[in-house]
Amino acid sequence: MSEVHAPAVGIHDLALATTHHVLTHEALAAAKGIDPGKYRVGLGQDEFSVAAPDEDTVTLAAAAALPLLERSGTDGIRTLLLATESGIDQAKSAGVFVHRLLGLPSAVRVVELKQACYAGTAALQLALGIVARDPAQKVLVIASDIARYDLDSAGEPTQGAAAVAFLVTADPAILAIDPVSGVHSADVGDFWRPNDRSTPVVDGKLSIRAYLDALGGAWRDHQARGGVPLAEVSRFLYHQPFTRMAEKAHKHLAGLGGIAYDPAQIASGLVYNRRLGNGYTASLYAGLAALLDHEDDLAGQRVGLFSYGSGAVSEFFTGVVQPGYRERRRVAEHAAALDARVPVDVATYRALHASAERGSAEDYELPRVTRAPFRFAGVTARTRRYE
Ligand code: CAA
Repeated sequence: MSEVHAPAVGIHDLALATTHHVLTHEALAAAKGIDPGKYRVGLGQDEFSVAAPDEDTVTLAAAAALPLLERSGTDGIRTLLLATESGIDQAKSAGVFVHRLLGLPSAVRVVELKQACYAGTAALQLALGIVARDPAQKVLVIASDIARYDLDSAGEPTQGAAAVAFLVTADPAILAIDPVSGVHSADVGDFWRPNDRSTPVVDGKLSIRAYLDALGGAWRDHQARGGVPLAEVSRFLYHQPFTRMAEKAHKHLAGLGGIAYDPAQIASGLVYNRRLGNGYTASLYAGLAALLDHEDDLAGQRVGLFSYGSGAVSEFFTGVVQPGYRERRRVAEHAAALDARVPVDVATYRALHASAERGSAEDYELPRVTRAPFRFAGVTARTRRYE
């Protein structure tokens, strides 16, 4: 009897989008009268993305996905999974708005996934299952978030925003995901956002401990299920609420797995997050974009990815970079998205932060600020309008 080999499945194409504005940590530190080294070195952050009034999770998500469709069209896409923890409706998926903005066919299932910053990985795993069952299908996954903390809280300097869209297919051109994956869940009160709040409630120190505990749990599960040893993984990507967290995580994992801590194994993956801030569900995949964009010799190399979503659900998994990855990456476009952001001063940033609280009780029109391909135009009869 001949052996039947399942095709490799994984990430075939990937693009990153971010906001119209940016605030430097130097400006934030100066306004607060604290040493900028706390942010630059202590948190590992240089600047963070700030949304214009006419940007939200939907517009960022659509902007990230558009280049994928421009390159490959919509053929084969029967599922759109949108991961976010800063969604715009408690019932309707943000993905349905994105589906219309992108002009996707009606024969597409659309759903939003939520489990804090982990949901992008949940979407990836669901997508892998769909494609494994029917390799002719493609799944469009979009992780999109605007991370907002209370002004003057400890979390404030870890704000940010990003969206990463990726196409999950059989025989992927970028990253083939290995079948073994380690998961770890525990009910932890480290970070959550009750329905009556637009910013999270956070126990920052507990969240760091919970993250590291989850990393250990997910990695042990990965090993128990026959996952590759750490010595066979050449690069590591971590969920990055702030890039120092990836450093703490990699030191922790290296200790658990008995390998030497080597900062070169994480360095390229930090480049975009230092400038984006926390992109919640998009953060790990912004790390993947940065790694692919900044290293030329990754073909055949194995990458380890750790996804953490407070509350808490986490996963450690691996993938192998494919030979054609350099032709598919978007180095110039990603640099342009980051460089094109318009700096704001601290007073403007604080005003933008306050204006994001606006509800749906009254109709309003928003001024045109963003230069992105899609914008949030305002609210009419409690309905968000996108252009
Ligand atoms: N120069 C250099 N380093 C300095 C410094 C200076 N002048 N001043 C302080 N530092 C260092 C500190 O020594 C500390 O380093 P270590 O972590 O090595 O101890 C670091 O800067 C941070 O300083 P503090 O511990 O005083 O920071 P803080 O009290 O302001 O809080 C935080 C830090 C808890 C991360 C806070 O920003 C926070 O609550 N963030 C939101 C929650 C979060 O991101 N948690 C991460 C895990 S949960 C997760 O990953 C999910 C998610 O996305 C939210």
